[in-house]
Amino acid sequence: MDPDINRVLYIIGASGHGKVIADLAELLGYTVYFYDDAYPEKQQIEHWTVLGTFDDLLQLEPDKINVAVAIGNNVIRQEKILLCEKHHYQLPRLIHPSAIISKYAQVGTGTVVLAGAVINAFARIGRGCIINTASVVEHDCIINDFVHISPNSALAGSVFIGECSWIGIGSQINQLVNVDEHVLIGAGSTVVKNIPANVVAFGSPAKVISHNR
Ligand SMILES: CC(C)(COP(=O)(O)OP(=O)(O)OC[C@H]1O[C@@H](n2cnc3c(N)ncnc32)[C@H](O)[C@@H]1OP(=O)(O)O)[C@@H](O)C(=O)NCCC(=O)NCCS
Repeated sequence: MDPDINRVLYIIGASGHGKVIADLAELLGYTVYFYDDAYPEKQQIEHWTVLGTFDDLLQLEPDKINVAVAIGNNVIRQEKILLCEKHHYQLPRLIHPSAIISKYAQVGTGTVVLAGAVINAFARIGRGCIINTASVVEHDCIINDFVHISPNSALAGSVFIGECSWIGIGSQINQLVNVDEHVLIGAGSTVVKNIPANVVAFGSPAKVISHNR
């Protein structure tokens, strides 16, 4: 029997992150298919089928099309999400059942919240974000669109993260700190001061190391 069209999810990006999203989507009751620009060379990822390239996906009529963009690179994910929005596709929030999200928090469309993540009261998460495994976003944080908070990172209260920034795995950010847009915070950093836009910063305490290309 064909799956209920409302419960089909097309995942863009047949990668490691794509597999995590497929696993979560199935847990949430979706039937999963992939699109990836490596098609037709890549026709399968694990047991899931790759149906075509991203351009092939864009040929689909918008009616009831659910899409998840499973691309770790924030800028590429942003580009694909903007195109999906233009095509009026649905970009459901995918929230792992073990994540804890305050009823006073907001989570944007197309954002994924993975296993064990915690989002506390009055935090505001934009659209197209990845709130990765076991990360903590404390009260009153503002996370703009297309941000990636990597696994096991912790943001203290009232932290601001600008659009398309990437907080590396196992990092900590002190309360009230602003991380501007298009920043890469390296793995295992402790961020104690504001970080300007378009830089790579890492260490404990984190220091600006280079321009973020
Ligand atoms: C910051 C980062 C992007 C730098 O990558 P890179 O430009 O390839 O840098 P290199 O690995 O060549 O390292 C350059 C130097 O910086 C140091 N360095 C790199 N990342 C560092 C970090 N996070 N903290 C401290 N030092 C770091 C290296 O030890 C190396 O030092 P050396 O010159 O004395 O040997 C990368 O190390 C990183 O942290 N990426 C995030 C990974 C992550 O969070 N993944 C999660 C996916 S879900």
